[in-house]
Order: sequence, then structure tokens, then C-alpha cells
Amino acid sequence: MTGASDDRGQWSSKVGFILAASGSAIGLGNIWRFPYVAGENGGAVFVVLYLIFVFLIGLPYMFAELALGRSVQKNPVGAINAIKPNSAWKLVGYLGVFTGVGILSFYGVVAGWTFGYIFKMIAGNVSGFGEYIANPWLVIFLFAVFMLLTTLIVYGGVEGGIERWSKILMPMLFVLLVGLIIYANTLEGASKGLAFYLKPDFSKISGSTAISALGQAFFSLSLGMGLMITYGSYVSKKENLVTSAVYIAVFDTLIAFFAGLIIFPTLFAMGKSPDQGPTLVFVVLPELFAKMPGGFFVGALFFILLSVAALTSTISLLEVPVAFMVDERKSKRKKIVWAVAGFTFLIGIPSALSQGASDFFSNFHLLPERLSGQDFLSHMSFVFGDFSLAFGALMLSIFVGWVWGAKNASDEIQEGAPGFAKSRKIWGFLIRWFIPIVVFLILLNLFGVFG
Ligand code: TRP
Repeated sequence: MTGASDDRGQWSSKVGFILAASGSAIGLGNIWRFPYVAGENGGAVFVVLYLIFVFLIGLPYMFAELALGRSVQKNPVGAINAIKPNSAWKLVGYLGVFTGVGILSFYGVVAGWTFGYIFKMIAGNVSGFGEYIANPWLVIFLFAVFMLLTTLIVYGGVEGGIERWSKILMPMLFVLLVGLIIYANTLEGASKGLAFYLKPDFSKISGSTAISALGQAFFSLSLGMGLMITYGSYVSKKENLVTSAVYIAVFDTLIAFFAGLIIFPTLFAMGKSPDQGPTLVFVVLPELFAKMPGGFFVGALFFILLSVAALTSTISLLEVPVAFMVDERKSKRKKIVWAVAGFTFLIGIPSALSQGASDFFSNFHLLPERLSGQDFLSHMSFVFGDFSLAFGALMLSIFVGWVWGAKNASDEIQEGAPGFAKSRKIWGFLIRWFIPIVVFLILLNLFGVFG
């Protein structure tokens, strides 16, 4: 990816692209958001729906974003404009750019908590998460530090540092998770957690389960706001978009699934309830570490790796608005990175203060409780992290399927992936009919249409 100059760049290799895109996909969404949303939505039923959405909707939809990006080599707004100049479709691109800022504003806050927990683990202090996130100066400071790290990397270019690091650190995270799964499942009472996580009870489906599972699928795969358009724009024509997307989806889903295999057994072994919301992982995991021999070391390592996973995601979130400003507004990359990051930091402050520091933002009742937790951060997470992504994906699948055309899109996908020839028909059906209709019905249901 470019960074050293204002020119558009390319990934240094196929592995580089898959790593960067997986790095974007794998993050707090898998380890922090997935378990707490699953916990709030009945456990295994949610997991089943989530898996269906990832592979039937998210994965085929990812082809569309990647193909569009690679075909016209632009940010989301520029890409739409290149296919359908000066039309209202451009608004979908703007929505994507703004959604990136919206997600980053609360994601950066949680990334700051994660970063701070490295030091809390080193200090051997496992309790008191509630007080920790209610401390206004501390959370704002940690948020600022994380935004600064993100900015420095996007500023300086991604290929050298992050691509190389990720190659070592992501496999380490994987191995550590496997170890934690084994340990967590030896705890007394762990099997009740496994049952909650893996044995679906279909009576627990509620009206909001579908949107939560769909939103989480898009969120976790980094879809619905044009990130994959932007990352696809740096991919060369020789590369196979189909196998790349499959790798990304499988890695991403495995990591989220692993996180659940750790959290739920531990949670039930501790006799806690699964619907605690955004604080779940931060309350549960440190107690697991406290029980383990050498646990504080493991805990510190865990939060280091999770911080890196979060960093490769925040980089991608910042990259979308930056690419937009560089391509469309001819901004200087080095200046605009600071401006966008600073703006995002300001919008993020209410989220940072919404976990106890400010009464007003901690008890926020704009959206009904069935849709969102009643604090500002949960509102942001629903509006930008679920609704806006689903809506963006609806519009973009219609745009690719009907305006650009499934045929043109299929031709692009097929370049570098000759085997796609036999799947063109089915993919055309998915992108033109199945995906938009299912997503539309789920969005409609937000208004309680189907009860
Ligand atoms: N997918 C990331 C995660 O799971 C979050 C993320 C990064 C994202 N970039 C995105 C979500 C773009 C939607 C769109 O942590």
C-alpha cells in the first residue's frame, strides 16, 4: 500500500494483500464484539445465523467490493463515480467514508482500553474494569495514544512495518487462543458455557437477532462501507480475488469462533450472565488469567496481540477517508491523515465518556433497548457498526449487480480466477436478488414489521 508518496500504490504481494485485508477483518470485532453480541442474543442461535450470513451473504458480497475496487482503482466515492458519473449513487460512497469515521470513533476507544490492559496485566491487577473505564482522563488518554499510533502508521505507509509484523503476530494470536480454549474448557462448569454457545435453542430468536447477526457479519468482515473497495484498488489483476476472499472469511470466522470457545466456558464456570454488553471480555478474561499459573504473563501477551489486531483494523478504517480525500479532494496524504484522525478523536470523546465517566452519555436512551445498549458507545456501535454497514451493503450490492452489472463484475472477478467461470450464474443471482432482498427484509424488520 502506498504511503511514501501521494501516488496510488499496490500491495507488495498476494500475501501482503491477504494479510492486510485479514488484518482489517480480524480485530476487536472478533474477540470483543462477537462474544458480547452473541451473549446478548441467545448464544448458539445467534452463532448459527451468523455463520449462515458470513458464508451466504458476506463472502459473495466481498467479491463485489473487491472487484469494483480493482476494476476502477479508486476509493468508494471515486469508484462509484467512475461507473456512474455524477449520479446520486455517489451518496452511498460518502456514507461509506463517513461510516469509517463513525466506526473508528468508538472502536478507537475500545482499542485504548485494550492497550491500557497490557499494563494492568503487567501490574498484576485483574479487577476493577468498571472503575477503569469510568476514569475520564485515563480513557481519553489511552484513546488518544491509540489514535496516534494509527495515524503514525497510516502516515508512514503500511507495507514495511505492518505487513511484516502481522506475519509473526497474527499466528501467535492464533496459537495463544488455542491454548486458552484448552485451558478454559478444563474449568469446572465450563460445559454449560459450551452448550449455551453451541446448542441452539430456536425459541430464543427475537426480532433483533437477525440484524445483530447480519450487522456483526458485515462488521467482522470489514464490509458495507467500501473498505474492500479501497483495499481491492491496490490489488493487481493477476491475483485471485475468490481464493483471497475465502481465506479472509475463513480466518476471520475461525478467530471469532475461537474467542467464543474461550469466553463462554469461562463465563459459565464463573457463574456470570452472558448478557453483560461491551464490558464482557474485559471482565471475564482477566479472571481466567488470574486463575492460570503464569497468568499475568499470558494476560499481558494476550492484550499485546489483541492491540496489534485492533491496530491493523484501525489503520484500515482510517485509510478509507484518507484515500477518499487524497483521490477526490487532492489533499496531501500527510496533512489529511492528521486532520481525519483529529476529527475522529473529537467525535469519539462522547463514546469514551459513556461508560460511567459522564452520566449523560452513560445513560443514553435514543434507541429502543431491544436494538442497542443504553449508552452512547452502544448507540454508535449500532448505528455505524450494524445499521449503516447493512444499508451500505444493500445499496452497493444493487449498484454492482444492476448498475455496473453482474456481467461486468463477473468478468473482473474471473480475471486471475479462471475457475470462477462456473460460478458466474449463481453469483449473479446472489448479488442481484438474494443479498439485496435478504438484507432489505432484515432492515425492514428493524421497524418491527415482522414482530
Ligand atoms: N473488521 C474489524 C473487526 O472485526 C473492524 C473493521 C475494520 C471494520 N475495518 C472495517 C468494520 C471496515 C467495517 C468496515 O474488528
